[in-house]
Amino acid sequence: MSIPTVLVTGSEGLLGSALQATFPTYSLLRPLFCSKSMMDITDPDQIEAYIQTHAIRYIINCAAYTDVQRAEQAAEHCFKVNSIGAGQLAALAAKHHVVLFHISTDYVFGATTGRPLKPDDPTGPCNTYGRSKLAGEQQIAAYAAQFYIIRTAWLYGETGNNFFTKIVALAQSGQTIQMVDDQIGSPTYVYDLATAIWKIIEKIDNHGPAHYPPGIYHYTNEGVASWYDFAHAILTTVPSRCALVPISSPAIAPKRPYYSVLSKSSFRAVFQIKIPHWLDSLAICLQKWQALESYF
Ligand SMILES: NC(=O)c1ccc[n+]([C@@H]2O[C@H](COP(=O)([O-])OP(=O)(O)OC[C@H]3O[C@@H](n4cnc5c(N)ncnc54)[C@H](OP(=O)(O)O)[C@@H]3O)[C@@H](O)[C@H]2O)c1
Repeated sequence: MSIPTVLVTGSEGLLGSALQATFPTYSLLRPLFCSKSMMDITDPDQIEAYIQTHAIRYIINCAAYTDVQRAEQAAEHCFKVNSIGAGQLAALAAKHHVVLFHISTDYVFGATTGRPLKPDDPTGPCNTYGRSKLAGEQQIAAYAAQFYIIRTAWLYGETGNNFFTKIVALAQSGQTIQMVDDQIGSPTYVYDLATAIWKIIEKIDNHGPAHYPPGIYHYTNEGVASWYDFAHAILTTVPSRCALVPISSPAIAPKRPYYSVLSKSSFRAVFQIKIPHWLDSLAICLQKWQALESYF
């Protein structure tokens, strides 16, 4: 009998790589990590071939067009991946009784509420990327039978192309770094999210999906910060010759939400998973980064 398998799309990206690094060794499931070159989610034949060839029980969709800046000029392609591709995955997951995990974003919100945003709060994306991700959520809800949409935000880690690695690379440059202090969110260590996803799958596999209502959930690290706060916390720990200067968000497109702190109450209540504070996770990231630096 073939081993039940978890298919991870977009597996060479930031989250896909973290899922590879954190796959639990004790799991009774088999992971199948598919990069874009192995499986393009805009090609339904490729998706179905994988589902039919392997005993796919779960899909974690990390494949996405994520360049917020370029999306403004590449809206058609952005929607093709983030909305149409997500919808195709959802339809095929439903057809083959696969549980679908889809990753979405705080950028589906736009209005400043001044309180953490709940999964059922009104959406209102203010840029093309956010609109494409919201359309993707709507496609998933329309086509998937058993789905979990996990909205997250401000992902970073000690490797790959992300805010943390950009700031530590700049730290030794001696440049003045200007950073917005009027956008508030929750920095999220990508390995915490990846570990949480594996824990959820383990729970669902052990107890059955009926115990865990499908729908939209929020996961970020605990606590809030501005991008300035986040950069400041990094630069006070790594060797730095940079001055850090707070600025206001530029008026030019693409706009970004000013306040996108996500409420994790339903996530905590349903999945019973502890969520670390962003400062504690940043300390772990910094330790791992320092270990990598001394190794090389
Ligand atoms: N990073 C964040 O701060 C953040 C915040 C909130 C939500 N999210 C969401 O989290 C998820 C994972 O994001 P991430 O940060 O890991 O993004 P990422 O690093 O850009 O990874 C996305 C991956 O998807 C691949 N991809 C693009 N088009 C594809 C297609 N048509 N078929 C298959 N694969 C495709 C990309 O390949 P190429 O690079 O070769 O194009 C890349 O490997 C996304 O849904 C994103 O919207 C991310």
